[in-house]
Amino acid sequence: MSPVAKSITPPAFARLPRTALEVRLAARPVGLPGLDDFEIVEVDVPGPSVGQVVVRNLFMSLDPGMLTLIRGDSRLPMRPYEVGEVMYGDAVGEVVASSDPALSEGELVVHRLGWREYAVAEAGAFRRVDRAAYPSPSMHLGFGLVAYVGLMDAAGLRPGDTVFVSSAAGATGSMAGQIARLKGAGRVIGSAGSPDKVAHLTGSLGFDAAFDYHDGPVLDRLREAAPDGIDVYFDNVGGEQLRAAVEVMNVHGRIAVCGALGLQSTGRPDEGPGDLLSVLGKRLTLRGFTLWDHLDRAAEFGEQFRAWLRDGSLVYDETVIDGLRSAPGALLDLVRGRFTGKTVVQVGV
Ligand SMILES: NC(=O)c1ccc[n+]([C@@H]2O[C@H](COP(=O)([O-])OP(=O)(O)OC[C@H]3O[C@@H](n4cnc5c(N)ncnc54)[C@H](OP(=O)(O)O)[C@@H]3O)[C@@H](O)[C@H]2O)c1
Repeated sequence: MSPVAKSITPPAFARLPRTALEVRLAARPVGLPGLDDFEIVEVDVPGPSVGQVVVRNLFMSLDPGMLTLIRGDSRLPMRPYEVGEVMYGDAVGEVVASSDPALSEGELVVHRLGWREYAVAEAGAFRRVDRAAYPSPSMHLGFGLVAYVGLMDAAGLRPGDTVFVSSAAGATGSMAGQIARLKGAGRVIGSAGSPDKVAHLTGSLGFDAAFDYHDGPVLDRLREAAPDGIDVYFDNVGGEQLRAAVEVMNVHGRIAVCGALGLQSTGRPDEGPGDLLSVLGKRLTLRGFTLWDHLDRAAEFGEQFRAWLRDGSLVYDETVIDGLRSAPGALLDLVRGRFTGKTVVQVGV
């Protein structure tokens, strides 16, 4: 009798690559980092110990906030990066080996272990997400929820409000402007850094008005775009745009402070909101917020977001960068204004 050929499936960890790449912070820069401040290192990929999971990262998020962590600034409620350590950040990936019954091979997960091709950690570090929720797994990294809680919770958006959004062609801003419109804003105004981006705002993203913040004093441009004043300012930038918004705000106006791109892109300290007598006289509210305090909104937002995508009332804009080796340069290009929408790195290419 001839021997019967038996196909044997090797355990998943036997199919893992021997090594993979990760990005470490090589030095703490003064001001903006250069490419020399990052180190790309090849490390071993271990099989999972009991209770651990190995995830092959598909996409990782680039966020200007990472520049703040690189500088070692401890004013954000996030741990700064340490020199010599692999950096961290949001990523989405696929479970490729598991020694914990909570997660199985093939499942899609989001987690904070970006800046590496393979993530190995306790199962609790990963959160399972629905592969069918979006056309691309990268969309699990979008900043729509940031925009939503900034508008609804920090700014208390009301129907009919005139809303101004800065860095409006970026990841958060492109969502904030569109969500404001969908939630009943009367007029939505955006600012961005080039004529092409301004055209993109009033074209595909449906803003009512937009201007290039390089075109003369922001205060003049904002007054032209909002002749009846603004009720809500979604602030991604700080600096001159924040001071102009304070001047143009209506009584009881609300400012949601989401980011500090002026500081993040230059390393120079922000000069603050300006005229406090206007803040007082108009009884303005200026409220900083972080997504982490509002995660209970995720399910409610996700449902609305998917419905808007399905019926075409919201455009999701994304820039995809190829390969982990390109990530440090892309982080710098992000704050130089080279991209639109949410910028992600496709890790395994
Ligand atoms: N609060 C939270 O929970 C939370 C969560 C996520 C992100 N954030 C923060 O929110 C902000 C926006 O994040 P994002 O990912 O959506 O970034 P983004 O807007 O996509 O950032 C990139 C854009 O920043 C703009 N920019 C750079 N320097 C600028 C300057 N000096 N003045 C005005 N615009 C400048 C550039 O656009 P132009 O070409 O238009 O200049 C560039 O395209 C960041 O500060 C981020 O750290 C906060």
